[in-house]
Amino acid sequence: MVALSKFALAAVGFAHGASAWGSLGHATVAYVAQHYLSEGTASWAKEVLDDSSSSYLANIASWADQYRLTDAGKWSASLHYIDAEDDPPTTCNVDYARDCGDSGCSISAIANYTQRVGDGRLSHNNTAEALKFLVHFLGDITQPLHDEAYEVGGNGIEVTFNGYSDNLHSDWDTYMPEKLVGGYALADAKSWADSLVEEITSGDYEAEAPSWIKGDTIGDAVTSAMRWASDANAFVCTVVMPGGASALQEGDLYPTYYNSAIGTIELQIAKGGYRLANWLNMIYNTKIAKRDLERFVQESRNEAPALDLLGRNFLPESRPLSRAKLAREAMEGSCCSAEKRGHVH
Ligand SMILES: *[C@@H]1O[C@H](CO)[C@@H](O)[C@H](O)[C@H]1NC(C)=O
Ligand SMILES: *[C@@H]1O[C@H](CO)[C@@H](O)[C@H](O)[C@H]1NC(C)=O
Ligand SMILES: [Zn+2]
Repeated sequence: MVALSKFALAAVGFAHGASAWGSLGHATVAYVAQHYLSEGTASWAKEVLDDSSSSYLANIASWADQYRLTDAGKWSASLHYIDAEDDPPTTCNVDYARDCGDSGCSISAIANYTQRVGDGRLSHNNTAEALKFLVHFLGDITQPLHDEAYEVGGNGIEVTFNGYSDNLHSDWDTYMPEKLVGGYALADAKSWADSLVEEITSGDYEAEAPSWIKGDTIGDAVTSAMRWASDANAFVCTVVMPGGASALQEGDLYPTYYNSAIGTIELQIAKGGYRLANWLNMIYNTKIAKRDLERFVQESRNEAPALDLLGRNFLPESRPLSRAKLAREAMEGSCCSAEKRGHVH
């Protein structure tokens, strides 16, 4: 069998850069969420994002991945994941104090931007930034390898997928989803989202969907987001690398491994969208819709709001850097972006 050259693939338009649930996964999460937003939440989000199109969340779902690659946005790289220092495939677990790191992680970021997006004192621009981050991070957190420190979330595990050399992380983020859907345009995301919505509303996911959001409360974003991270992290031991990393390096991951993983990928994308909608609806209902009333009550009591809008209170206690975090630091910059890998798939 003659493999297509990289050039041939690029020439027919398959070359692209993507990272962190690639743009396909993030846009799909966003479209699923759009379906379940209330009218009030949807019109608030459109106003915040200055976008009245039918793709208002999908259009900005990967903004955070572009931003982290800029000089101005480098500081935000650690917010895309939590490096669970567990021991897969023997033990999987996430521990906030152990794993978050003092420059922050997906959990503290979700808490921070949940607080910021609903706070009336921020500029329009800062409010939009908070919403864009939330749309992205509630997607990232459902990707099991965004909740795992081992080999920098699988970025250091070199594998072969469908004839290409790449790493396990990018296969989960990007290449397995794209294999399933057959493209990565917004229209591909929309049709994938439509089929997931059908499963949630009246199909395979209908019975379990309520459990995906059970207990979620914006009043305790850290606990809620930790539950999502632990849920996804458990798949690292059972689906992502049940036989350890070396078992994944013995042959092409397509089709056997792909077939064992793709159902979990679909499930996690569906969860991300369903949770995001519920989360934004809760923010809207408890903070935005009532904001004027709360302001009035607060002002009449003459109380200044005592919030730290930089979210420092959400961070865990500072600790010395672990080996896993040093490995992440050493790799950051050379990993986690298809553009930088020069990867054509
Ligand atoms: C708004 O925020 C973006 C980043 O989210 C930044 O690039 C831009 O300069 C900001 N604009 C203003 C007017 O502050
Ligand atoms: C909260 O968000 C602001 C604005 O993006 C950022 O400057 C700050 O570092 C964030 N705090 C945490 C704990 O992520
Ligand atoms: Zn990301």
